[in-house]
Amino acid sequence: MPMQAAAQAQPNIALIKYWGKRDERLNVPAVPSLSITLESLWTRTQVRFDETLGEDRFMLDGKRDDAQFQRVSAMLERLRHHAGVSTFADVRSFNNFPTGAGLASSASGFAALVVAAIHALGLVLPLAELSALARQGSASAARSIFGGFVEMACGSRDDGQDAIARPLLAASSWPLEVAVAITAPGPKSIGSSMGMVHTARTSPFYRGWIEDAPRRLEVAREAVIARDFERLAEVSEASCLAMHGLALSASPGLLYWNGVTVELMHCVRELRSAGTPVFFTVDAGPQLKAVCLPGWSRDVAQCLAEVPGVREVRLSGLGDGARVLESKE
Ligand code: PMV
Repeated sequence: MPMQAAAQAQPNIALIKYWGKRDERLNVPAVPSLSITLESLWTRTQVRFDETLGEDRFMLDGKRDDAQFQRVSAMLERLRHHAGVSTFADVRSFNNFPTGAGLASSASGFAALVVAAIHALGLVLPLAELSALARQGSASAARSIFGGFVEMACGSRDDGQDAIARPLLAASSWPLEVAVAITAPGPKSIGSSMGMVHTARTSPFYRGWIEDAPRRLEVAREAVIARDFERLAEVSEASCLAMHGLALSASPGLLYWNGVTVELMHCVRELRSAGTPVFFTVDAGPQLKAVCLPGWSRDVAQCLAEVPGVREVRLSGLGDGARVLESKE
């Protein structure tokens, strides 16, 4: 049995946002979501189960990461339980982008961890099961198991086993491009889990958000299937702004943007009014992701880079789902 393996996963960007939990303990989302998996940002993770270890170990980008250790170790514990073993593991993870800054590092991180650890444990599981396992680390990680356009259900079962992602359309069938404008590289102040639980408890708009979720998903799904960019642009920006409106209406309100984020939103809307096929989305952090039709990301990136305060713009196409890396990679 191979006791060590490496895997790569890419972050995904939700166009239809998940915000709120149906079950906090099992980490089951309260709403369905729809995302695109990126290509050029990645997490690579090595997992080695080692009989000589007295506890799990976790290094991120070459340093011990105590902040994330509990979540990583809890995931390893679930996977050990699944495999019927008790051996501790040494986990080394690398991101080629800023961690914990609203760039979905937890999505790629937990997807890569699950795929590497399951392979190291000698198990072969269906993708749906990998997705359910990844969800328990970070719900958005369930989506990074798959590439291209991905849909995630919130399900209705008490055990959360139907809260899994599934592929909707291959990246090659509609190769949209993404320009990620980084406005602040540091970690965000309020993690998404804490933020969404706080929002659910205190926002008077939470019920409306939940009720409107199936409609938003349906519109986005149809737009993707029909390759209707305008429609996808409208529903995606509406989902993003509604999610942030929800966070803003919590008590105290959560404000994930900085001034540059807002300038970038105006910039994207001006570009679109002038005929550039682009729309924005923003997650639980101040970075803006501009999604555009194939061939447009360089022009869009140039405009975003000119907005004062933008530190860097990264370009990405749509990429594959999480996968095992052979040792030569
Ligand atoms: O899965 P988490 O806990 O990283 O939360 C993700 C929350 C958002 O990125 C804001 C929305 C989403 O659907 O990815």
